[in-house]
Amino acid sequence: MPVPEVREGLTMKTPSFIHGQTLAHEALAAEAEAGLLAAAASVSPKFLYDPLGSRLFDAITELDEYYVTRTEAAIFAAEGDAIVDAALSGCGPAPVLVDLGAGNCAKAARLFAALRPRRYVAVDISVDFLREALEQLQQRHPALDLVGVGQDFSVQLALPAGIAGPGSLVFYPGSSIGNFTPEGALRLLRQARALAAPGGSLVIGADLVKDVQVLERAYDDALGVTAAFNLNLLRRLNGLLGADFDLAEWRHVARFDTPHSRIEMHLEARRPLTVRWAGGTRERAFAAGERIHTENSCKWSRPAFAALLADAGWTDVRCFTDARAWFGVFVARA
Ligand code: AVJ
Repeated sequence: MPVPEVREGLTMKTPSFIHGQTLAHEALAAEAEAGLLAAAASVSPKFLYDPLGSRLFDAITELDEYYVTRTEAAIFAAEGDAIVDAALSGCGPAPVLVDLGAGNCAKAARLFAALRPRRYVAVDISVDFLREALEQLQQRHPALDLVGVGQDFSVQLALPAGIAGPGSLVFYPGSSIGNFTPEGALRLLRQARALAAPGGSLVIGADLVKDVQVLERAYDDALGVTAAFNLNLLRRLNGLLGADFDLAEWRHVARFDTPHSRIEMHLEARRPLTVRWAGGTRERAFAAGERIHTENSCKWSRPAFAALLADAGWTDVRCFTDARAWFGVFVARA
């Protein structure tokens, strides 16, 4: 049992951790393998975020072409007080703050001063990354109750009883909701509402539809960082499955698909090739130009995203946006 430190007259708490359904190596490997063997090969975007992938994503957020992170930050800088007021008017003071895909917890931590949460629940697929982030956060907020939950909420969002409940504020910034199909997004938003209702609220970032060139450049930058981020998935599969992907044989492709209103990322075989794994007992042949679909990033119109929230049971939907209306921070009540 760690001895609580005393700092500035406050008792230093210790973050607690809960492992949701653990992401066993075997389960992950089986999921990746099934995707590779499907007629139209696809691998979930969650495989993009190994330690190197997470660093490459951080680098993406600094690119001139990738307006997403910067635009959302500008909205919070300009409208933060109004966003917090709108959220608190739904859930009341000192809410339990539930951060979906918390990562380094930086975006939520910036709201602590205005929001004064009584507990911060950070949910992320990568529990090791979370552990480090929460330990550092506790140094700066010694008295705040911090809970880390290792959970793949792309499968299901269900927090253990007693951690968060009616009146919670659900925070899902960054527009990662765009990784879901509209049906998947609806399901997650319903689960989030079930968690927070009655009396809770939601603050969520959604990337908005815009000029196709702007969108495609954001996902295929001149420096090639997004290409590296995408190709790193093959490196991850080599490690996870013992596969023999040769990264030089594959090309990054990012295209806006208008019918689905989404950027699609693919990896395309430059020539005919066969990938083997599991000691050569499994294989998949790819024709030249054949692709592995690795990510969708849906782009919403303001009314369509507001309607999605309403469909999921959220009410009093408000949208805060930037001058170009490139990104939306939506606030709603459970
Ligand atoms: C982390 C899902 C919000 O879709 O913009 C960035 C991921 N992929 N560049 C996005 C991503 C390629 C990003 N999200």
